[in-house]
Amino acid sequence: MSETKFKDIANQITSRIEQGIYAAGAKLPPHRELANELGTTPATVSKAYKLLAELGRVESFVGRGTFVRDKSALNQVIQPQHQELDFNFSILQPCLVLNLNALTEAYTQAAETLSPTLLAYADDSGHSAHRAAGAIWLQKHGLQSASSENVLLTNGAQHALSLLVETLTEPGDTIAVEALTYPGILAIANLAGREVVGVNLDDDGLCPKHLRKVIKQHSPKLVICIPSHQNPTGITMSVSRRQAIADVIKASSTYLVEDDIYAFLNNTPIPAISDLLPQQSIYITSLSKAVSPAMRCGYIKAPDALLPVLAAHIRANIWLASPINFAAATGLIEQGTAFELASAQLREAEYRQTVAADILKDFYETASGFHIWLKLPEHWRVDRLVEEAKKRAILVSHGGYFSVGDTPNCVRLSLMSISSRDRFEEGLIQFAELLASKPMPFSDFLN
Ligand SMILES: Cc1ncc(COP(=O)(O)O)c(C=O)c1O
Repeated sequence: MSETKFKDIANQITSRIEQGIYAAGAKLPPHRELANELGTTPATVSKAYKLLAELGRVESFVGRGTFVRDKSALNQVIQPQHQELDFNFSILQPCLVLNLNALTEAYTQAAETLSPTLLAYADDSGHSAHRAAGAIWLQKHGLQSASSENVLLTNGAQHALSLLVETLTEPGDTIAVEALTYPGILAIANLAGREVVGVNLDDDGLCPKHLRKVIKQHSPKLVICIPSHQNPTGITMSVSRRQAIADVIKASSTYLVEDDIYAFLNNTPIPAISDLLPQQSIYITSLSKAVSPAMRCGYIKAPDALLPVLAAHIRANIWLASPINFAAATGLIEQGTAFELASAQLREAEYRQTVAADILKDFYETASGFHIWLKLPEHWRVDRLVEEAKKRAILVSHGGYFSVGDTPNCVRLSLMSISSRDRFEEGLIQFAELLASKPMPFSDFLN
């Protein structure tokens, strides 16, 4: 095999990706098939695929094949777990074993309260008692203006985000987001054909000066921000920064979407931006991070003027979010259990952050909440590190999936999804060893 043949083949594949012949997320042809087409050997194609994986253009999965990397593909941020033994640091969810008994109890109680009313279609976006419980959850975490009249129920915060994009923007409109943001937002914009523009972040979160500039230049219909324990940077916006953002939004005709799904991780509640902007802001959250993502219980608090149109979209899309899950959620909130679970998750997160600070030492910068946004040492490039970690059954989220612009040389590590503290520690130790080691030279890597 000529020394450079595989590079030629890699270039040909890259050009097909760029022309859209191999679309984002598509599976590349099997080695033999492409080798026959391009007049080369399967071994050369295999080497070309390896090179492209190293460059971050494709991703390989044992037994499934090689796929064109899609920056907005959620299934790559949350890496599929192939084996029980994987160390999965890529899923941003609570430590579910801590909540299991309380959830069993909550669903048992909900089953005991089943009635024809609960089992029927409800004629608005949810039962009033379920919306009232949602309002309690929102108020407790910093949104004083929430009430059963202005809270709607959704299938999780993801549904709330997609509903707002669908309702408040049109194809071709621009949405402003934090320059590093939750990939679920990018995925929605991508699928819905909305343009996305990034707003710079500084140490206090979304930068008001840059936001003003972006609004002036791009006239976004929505500005979406995550003010507490931001995904992925972990930043929590101060009260003064929240006020500054509210002032910028007030001076414009755009809406703010405040995705405050991690507010329960603030040791004391921080006032929501939406209370400063009652007519121009929509606040969303869910129970996914404090209780369980499987409940799909999300809440939206919107200005009165938007409630009918949002409710109509919920009805048209899903009729209503499952009242049975909301019955369980309402029990958990009314009895105070949901707040106890949230506190237990916060304590577990604090413990795991301390362990991570100790094990990752020089690589660790101050962090809080469920995750760490880790800047890689000079000797590692993110594509290569994610690949090498995966070979060791350590799953981490590639920094590129969170970025609206350039790929940051960072990974996001979620600290809570590995149930056992011992396994969590073992995985972190192995990951720290990998970070400290130097990657083998590129030429050896390809052999
Ligand atoms: C900032 C943010 N918003 C929304 C979601 C989606 O949450 P849900 O499970 O409630 O749909 C996530 C999940 O990771 C998130 O990090």
